[in-house]
This record gives sequence, C-alpha cells and structure tokens, in this order.
Amino acid sequence: MNRITVERVKDEAKNVRTLFFRWDQKISAGQFVMVWLPGLGEIPMSLSYIGSLKGITVKAYGKTSQAMIELQPGNEFFIRGPYGNGFQVESGRKLLIGGGSGIASLLPIADSETDAIISAKTRDEIIFADRFPDSRLFLATDDGSAGFHGFPHDLLDRMDLSVYRKIYVCGPEQMLYRVMLKLKDRQVDAEFSLERTMKCGIGICDSCSVGGLQVCKQGPVFSIEQLRDNPEFGIYRTTYSGKRISLNMK
Ligand code: FES
Repeated sequence: MNRITVERVKDEAKNVRTLFFRWDQKISAGQFVMVWLPGLGEIPMSLSYIGSLKGITVKAYGKTSQAMIELQPGNEFFIRGPYGNGFQVESGRKLLIGGGSGIASLLPIADSETDAIISAKTRDEIIFADRFPDSRLFLATDDGSAGFHGFPHDLLDRMDLSVYRKIYVCGPEQMLYRVMLKLKDRQVDAEFSLERTMKCGIGICDSCSVGGLQVCKQGPVFSIEQLRDNPEFGIYRTTYSGKRISLNMK
C-alpha cells in the first residue's frame, strides 16, 4: 500500500476534479489502481496522467469518490497497484471515444495523430475538450447542447473510420457495447476498457467477472475479438454484494 500526498487539484467540471500527485511507479495507460480512503472504502481508478506528475480524475458518485474530490493539497490517500493490463498503443492515426469521465483514462495515449469523440449528457459535463485541437475533436451530447445531438455510436455512422489504425473506447458499459456493435463487422481494430465491481483487484474473488473474463486480471482493457461474443458484456453486471443485474434496467 502506498501513501500518496495530493500536490494540487484541478476542477474539470461540476463534481469532477483531477488530483495530481508524485508517485515513483511506472504505469501503462489503461492500467488501474485501487484507491483507499481509510474509513470510507476502496475504489478502482485509472490514471489520467502517468508521467512523473501523476493524476487521477474523479467524478463524485458515491461516498468514497465524493470524499476524494474534497481532498486538498497536502491531504493523503492510499494506493495499491497498478493492476491489470493497459492499452496496446499503435502508432498512426487513432480515435479515442470517451463517455463521461471515461475520456480521462484514454488521455495518456493521446498524441498529435489522435482524434477524439468526447460525449456527455450536457455541455457542462464535457471534460478534457481543451486537450484536443478543434480539428481533431468531435463532441456528442445527449441533449444536443454541444456538438452532435446523440450518442457516440450514432456519430460513428457519419465518420470515415477507415482512416484510423485503431479505436480506443472507455465509458459506461452500454456505450461500449453499442460502439462494439457498430465496429464488429468493420475492418477496424479496437480496444475497450471495462469497469466492473472490483474487490480484490488481483483475480481471487471473481466479483469482476464478465462472461468468464476477469476484468481486474485479464482486463480492464479487452480487444473487440474478446468481447464480440461475450454473453454478459453489455447485458449483465454484478453488484458489490454479488447480485447479477441487467444493465438495461439501470
Ligand atoms: S476483483 Fe477480485 S477477481 Fe477481479
């Protein structure tokens, strides 16, 4: 377990904040860490910055993440990891598709040849648009308040995907699933970062299983080939208590 001190914080959007810190640890883009706040709980998080100054971008949605975004410079938290695999980064033109705070874990693979689709419910919830030049950025909002009015998988219908060497996707599982359906019959290589309930983070408890794949150990990044026939991807997830629920009922 590593004790981490917050060096500075940056507000990205309402209830979304990046915590910057120093940690002498090599991490591949897409790997995750378990972040622990004593007395509150432990949550899996990917890093949005993986250089000497590292960063975690947190969206408040539960008690632990809410406490995370309230941390100030000088406050401490704990990290174990890194765990899992990272993205297989190809040279050449790439497309990142990030839904909600999902774009945060894709940021470390952005370079001058990278285009991005950033989607959110509304304009106010879009983050990291300033990290991409306008010519390489496509916005999509559920309410049409910025960019394309609709979801990333619908926006893909209007784009020439043959120009991309690889597509990288991170965000809510329903979005990942619909993007996978759009891509699976096209000649485009793609990787998806999955989020599941994590407990041990190291392949013991099986709480993160998706159709026989352990997200913590075999993922969180999976190729489109691994997911195209998975019986649970986009269909079911398991709650922290182990109950299997339909993703369509959320
Ligand atoms: S979180 Fe325990 S097996 Fe993946």
